[in-house]
Amino acid sequence: MSMNSGKTAVVTGASSGIGRATAEALAQAGFTVFGTSRRKASNGPDGVTMLVCDVTDGEAVAALVSTVLSRTGRIDLLVNNAGVGLLGGAEEFSIAQVQALFDVNLFGVIRMINAMLPSMRRRGEGRIINIGSVLGLVPAPYSAHYSAVKHALEGYSESLDHEVRAFNIRVSVIEPAFVRTVFDQNGIEPDSLLKEYDQARAGFKALLADVMPKADRPEMVADAVVKAATDARPRRRYTVGKAARQVSLLRRFAPAEMFDKTLRKQFRLPI
Ligand SMILES: NC(=O)c1ccc[n+]([C@@H]2O[C@H](COP(=O)([O-])OP(=O)(O)OC[C@H]3O[C@@H](n4cnc5c(N)ncnc54)[C@H](OP(=O)(O)O)[C@@H]3O)[C@@H](O)[C@H]2O)c1
Repeated sequence: MSMNSGKTAVVTGASSGIGRATAEALAQAGFTVFGTSRRKASNGPDGVTMLVCDVTDGEAVAALVSTVLSRTGRIDLLVNNAGVGLLGGAEEFSIAQVQALFDVNLFGVIRMINAMLPSMRRRGEGRIINIGSVLGLVPAPYSAHYSAVKHALEGYSESLDHEVRAFNIRVSVIEPAFVRTVFDQNGIEPDSLLKEYDQARAGFKALLADVMPKADRPEMVADAVVKAATDARPRRRYTVGKAARQVSLLRRFAPAEMFDKTLRKQFRLPI
């Protein structure tokens, strides 16, 4: 019998990509897994019970928590994975678009955590794992709002980890680089495309076309989540894959000017 049997995990955004792979990997590791999607899923991940929940809807989040608690009586692990992207020049996106991004990628996480913490606190144990990004460590061009929301997630997660450790609850952030999912295709187009960014956009799209086919597999992120969920002493951050590890190391140890040049070169920007 697995040491995780009897433990319950909730994974948001389990209908595709990283969330789907993570829900399956946790089920294989012995957890009883509930995955979420905004739509009723006909073919969810193997061994995972799918429930409908939009993380921007507080009532839907409360209903999700009470459904899971009524079925299993406990939530040991919450994986906040649901997320959307905004790729383009910062000024091309309307405030409404940026607010919608934050509503899913940050406030959605906070809604889920606020709804689940009381039961974790009462039981005196729990793990929360937030899916961040290397863009939460390094701001990159044409991802200003996405970089902002992933930086916010890093700050929120680290603060929360200090607060809830007293209740035997730990918070970790998983930091992948590019991962082969439909994430870039699901990215929201800017409300006002500006021709001044046409050339930069073409460079950025060329970069994506170059890196995406060689990007990391979602299963690599799923493995990191299982590790963070089961490590006796979980780390606050888990980078995933070679590219993310390199970026994280360079950010900390390379001279700022050299880092700036390398990044601009990668994004095909004049140095
Ligand atoms: N792919 C990458 O290169 C990459 C790199 C680093 C980090 N990440 C992060 O990894 C996470 C997952 O991304 P992915 O690449 O796996 O993308 P994906 O395949 O597009 O999956 C996104 C998931 O989020 C769910 N979702 C979107 N809006 C939602 C909402 N309002 N409420 C509830 N669920 C919602 C979607 O579910 P439904 O549409 O079924 O509702 C879907 O299951 C995101 O947080 C992303 O920022 C991705």
